[in-house]
Amino acid sequence: MRQYRLEPTAAGPMEPVKIEDAPVPEPGPGEVRVRVRACSLNYRDLLVRSGKSASGGGGSVIPLSDGAGEIDALGEGVSGWERGDRVVAGIFRDWEDGRFEMRFHKAALGGSADGVLSEFVVLSAAQLVRLPGHLTFAEGACLPVAALTAWHSLVERGGLKSGDTVLALGTGGVSIGSLQIAAALGAKVIVTSSSDEKLERARALGAWHTVNYATQPDWDKTVWDLTDKRGVDHIIEVGGPGTLGRSMNAIAPGGHIGLIGVLTGFEAPEASLFPLLARNVDLHGIYAGSRAMFERMNAFLAEKAIHPAIDREFAFDDALAAYDWLESGRHFGKVVVNLG
Ligand SMILES: NC(=O)c1ccc[n+]([C@@H]2O[C@H](COP(=O)([O-])OP(=O)(O)OC[C@H]3O[C@@H](n4cnc5c(N)ncnc54)[C@H](OP(=O)(O)O)[C@@H]3O)[C@@H](O)[C@H]2O)c1
Repeated sequence: MRQYRLEPTAAGPMEPVKIEDAPVPEPGPGEVRVRVRACSLNYRDLLVRSGKSASGGGGSVIPLSDGAGEIDALGEGVSGWERGDRVVAGIFRDWEDGRFEMRFHKAALGGSADGVLSEFVVLSAAQLVRLPGHLTFAEGACLPVAALTAWHSLVERGGLKSGDTVLALGTGGVSIGSLQIAAALGAKVIVTSSSDEKLERARALGAWHTVNYATQPDWDKTVWDLTDKRGVDHIIEVGGPGTLGRSMNAIAPGGHIGLIGVLTGFEAPEASLFPLLARNVDLHGIYAGSRAMFERMNAFLAEKAIHPAIDREFAFDDALAAYDWLESGRHFGKVVVNLG
């Protein structure tokens, strides 16, 4: 079988990603072998490749956390699963339910543990969820990081309800996943982007208002005005230190900010955190989600017949082009590698 591998270089970054031949792996006790049908890329995969991810182990690793496929072999003691079951795996091998624990970082797919950019992978049966029947493998591969992070932030921690207002920054995987989930729950979603063409696509997916943050650098003021100077109830904060200040200007008193991303870097925030207390705001750090959250989200996606927004699909042999496409920032929603 064939798989990709990231090797550390003397200079630090984990480039390039290489394709290699390897024996088909055998599942041990409690494990299953999955024939991978599709993978999706996340911004994290660019961070892992460049050696900047917090959950990257820094060693040789099979890249990508997000894959969907069918069970091909069962290890000893596995129950509840059969050969041929369509499955998708959570990024954290050991986060089944409850609060996050730091030990979970030690087995994060495509970072500290081998990932899924391979024709066959061995996974813990405990990290699998069933792929909802209405989704293709490509769509299922979009769920473990982008959609689950959106769900965790908006629903599990944010308690989103119909009529709430949501601000999603940019039009990448997490933000478009947030738009789809929040709109399906009856929320009013404001989406920002550097591209008018992408904003048009966001409106077609149900965005209430859109703001071009490139032509309107004071997007926080625009959001404030769009909400009759009340602010939004939830923010999907994927920017980090460079955008948090404006997000704090745009949040409603008592609102909820999900601190999710690092698109502007890992440094300390440029702005004072005082508005958080002045406005009694909840700030939650969010990192993907547990298997229990994943199952709740999948039930919701099935009920509402939500299909993740796929921008482009690349063949397995063209996986490096998929990395380049994600890195170019020209995508809207998710970028997929299809193994057929
Ligand atoms: N904590 C977690 O569990 C978790 C999970 C997933 C992702 N993340 C993080 O969340 C961020 C987004 O991840 P992703 O996979 O969704 O990324 P992605 O698909 O690569 O999307 C990136 C998009 O963000 C927008 N963007 C870039 N810089 C921006 C800025 N300064 N202000 C507003 N928007 C900006 C751009 O949208 P336009 O082209 O429309 O301008 C860009 O296309 C990353 O930092 C990632 O590491 C965290």
